[in-house]
Amino acid sequence: MKTLLNLRALLIALGMCALSVQAQEAFKIGLILPMTGQQATTGKQIEAAARLFMAQNGDKVAGRKIELIIKDDGGIPDAAKRIAQELVVNDKVGVLGGFGLTPLALATAPIATQSKTPMVVMAAATSIITEASPYIVRTSFTLAQCSVAMGDWAPKNGIKRVVTLVSDYGPGIDAERFFKERFLLNSGQVIESLRVPLRNPDFAPFLQKVRDLKPDALFVFVPSGAGAAVMKQFLERGMDKAGIKLIGTGDMTDDDQLNDMGDGSLGVVTSHHYSAMHPSAVNKKFVEAFKKANHGMRPNFMAVGGYDGMRVIYEALKNTKGGQGGGDALLAAMKGQIFESPRGQIFIDAQTRDIVQNIYLRRVEKKDGELYNVEFDVIKEVKDPGKTK
Ligand code: PHB
Repeated sequence: MKTLLNLRALLIALGMCALSVQAQEAFKIGLILPMTGQQATTGKQIEAAARLFMAQNGDKVAGRKIELIIKDDGGIPDAAKRIAQELVVNDKVGVLGGFGLTPLALATAPIATQSKTPMVVMAAATSIITEASPYIVRTSFTLAQCSVAMGDWAPKNGIKRVVTLVSDYGPGIDAERFFKERFLLNSGQVIESLRVPLRNPDFAPFLQKVRDLKPDALFVFVPSGAGAAVMKQFLERGMDKAGIKLIGTGDMTDDDQLNDMGDGSLGVVTSHHYSAMHPSAVNKKFVEAFKKANHGMRPNFMAVGGYDGMRVIYEALKNTKGGQGGGDALLAAMKGQIFESPRGQIFIDAQTRDIVQNIYLRRVEKKDGELYNVEFDVIKEVKDPGKTK
C-alpha cells in the first residue's frame, strides 16, 4: 500500500513537472518568407513588420514566451512546403505565417490541414487560397477586392477602352477577370488581355503592342517588386505622352519603390487597401515607428499584412491563455477578429477566414518632396468577391 501511495505521489509530481515545462516552453511562430530572389522585398518588409510588432507588444503573451522563427523559401513552392513540414515536425511551431506568393501558400496548405496548424497568409492574394485549407486565415488582401473598385472608377472617369496587362499566374488572372467583369458591366471595353511571365518578365514587347492598340488606359497587375520596371518602360516608350493612361491595382505603385519611380508616375490612379499616406493616427504612428526601426524604409502593403497578421496571432494567444487547446482553439480565436489596422478598420470573416477591409482609390502625388499614393475615395468594408462558395 505504501509503495502504491509513493508511486502515486511520484506520478503526480511527474505530471506537475510536465505541466510546468509546458507552461515555460516558448510558443513558436514560424514565418516562411521569400528573403532572397525576385520577391525578396516582400520578405524584408514582412520580417521588419513582425519584428516591430514584437518590439511594441512584447515577447510574452498570457505569460508565455513567444519565439519568432524566420525561414527563407527563396520564392520556391517546394522549399516552402519542406520548410513548413520541418517547422511543424521538428520545431513544433504553433502557427505558420508569411507566404509571399500564391504558389508558396498553395504548396503549404496541405501541411496546415494535416497538422491542424493555423496558417496566416500575410501577403499572397489569390482568392482561392483561403479555400485550400480550413486552417488558413488571411491578413493581406485579394486582387478581386481591389480590381472591382477600379472597374467602377475607370468608366466614370472617361476611360472606355482598356488593355489589361497582368502577371500570368493566380493573382494576375484574378485581377484581369474581376476588373474586366465589372468594367464590362459599366459599358467599358477590354480590347486586349495580355499576360506576362512571372519569372524574369520582359515588358517591352507587350508595351509595344499596347502602344499600337492605343487604348484610353492600360490596366496593370504585377506583384510587389515588379512595378518600377513597368513604370520605367511605360514612360521610356512615351506612352503617357501618346495619351494612354496607366491604371491598376496598387501593387504597381508599391510604397517600397514608388519614391524612386520619378515624377513620370505623378497622376497614376490605382485601387488598393493600403497607402503609407493613409491619414489616420494609427497609421502615422506605424509609419514613423517602422521607418525609425528600419533606417528610414517606408512600409508597404506587405508590411501591413505582416503587422496585422502578428496582431491576429497575439490576440488569439491572449484569448486561449497562451495557446491552450492547440491549433483548433487558436484558429477559432482568429476568426471574427475586428480591429483598427494602419490601413483602417479590418475584420476577419469567421465564415471565409478572409479579410474584409476598405479599398481606396489613390493618385500618385508629391507630398513634402516625396511621391505617395494619396487616397481620394473609399469603398468601405469590401468582402472578397472571388469566393467560389
Ligand atoms: C501573390 O502571389 O499572391 C501576390 C504577390 C505579390 C502581390 C500580390 C499578390 O503584390
